[in-house]
Amino acid sequence: MDYRRIILLTGAGVSAESGMGTFRDKDGIWTRHSLEDVATPEGFTRNPRLVHDFYNARRRSLREAAPNPAHRALARLEGAVKKAGGDLLLVTQNVDDLHEKAGSRSLLHMHGELKQVMCASCGIKGAWDEDLFTDTECWRCGASALRPDVVWFGEMPYGMDAIYQKLGACDLFVSIGTSGEVYPAAGFVNEARRAGAHTVELNLEPSANAWEFSEGRYGLASQVVDEWASDLIRKIAV
Ligand code: OAD
Ligand code: ZN
Repeated sequence: MDYRRIILLTGAGVSAESGMGTFRDKDGIWTRHSLEDVATPEGFTRNPRLVHDFYNARRRSLREAAPNPAHRALARLEGAVKKAGGDLLLVTQNVDDLHEKAGSRSLLHMHGELKQVMCASCGIKGAWDEDLFTDTECWRCGASALRPDVVWFGEMPYGMDAIYQKLGACDLFVSIGTSGEVYPAAGFVNEARRAGAHTVELNLEPSANAWEFSEGRYGLASQVVDEWASDLIRKIAV
């Protein structure tokens, strides 16, 4: 097997065919909702009800969503890499739980999770699959201050120390279904290149930073990711 320390980065494109919607495509979520209103701490302070409505709707649509062949291929790849004694970390910008539903275990949600809440008053976090309202009380401190445990613009993404440590030592970095518009995730390819890793982009079309990758394969994630992962699994198996 050529690669032993693999990092995969996924974005909304990997879940598009599961019906979760992307952000910056022509009919994307940010064309219908204002990012400043629903994805910033200031927006939440201004109008928490609007923010809850937005994430409640997304959480409800997640209940209907199932993993697609791209999620499943990445879970299979993790199994094959680990069986061969290698290391694989899947870093996702997605707040859905479709990677774990497909069987991925070595997974880091750098932008948080829709099905988790956090109390803005006492800081406790917990699993949550219901609608949230402005008067929903925290189960620990009683404050009406629960918010989705998702990372908003202006907040620090999760797991950055662990991610940069792995990027600095990876030999394969693959970016999947992300527009490359949002930092720090968009800068990961640079870190990987600095570490001497082979870098691959799998996306519907070349992203904003496609030129930074040594290889690109383009098309629907359900096909391209499945084919690319199956190729690699075959190589690992020989
Ligand atoms: P974007 O909407 O910016 O980009 C999605 C990418 O997926 C685009 O490059 C599309 O071409 C591609 N795509 C769409 N459908 C696809 C398909 N079926 N197969 C393969 N690729 C497809 O979403 P992200 O890059 O994930 O953050 O956005 C990054 C962050 O910006 C999100 O995590 C979110 C958002 O604002 C926060 O809310 C903090
Ligand atoms: Zn609390």
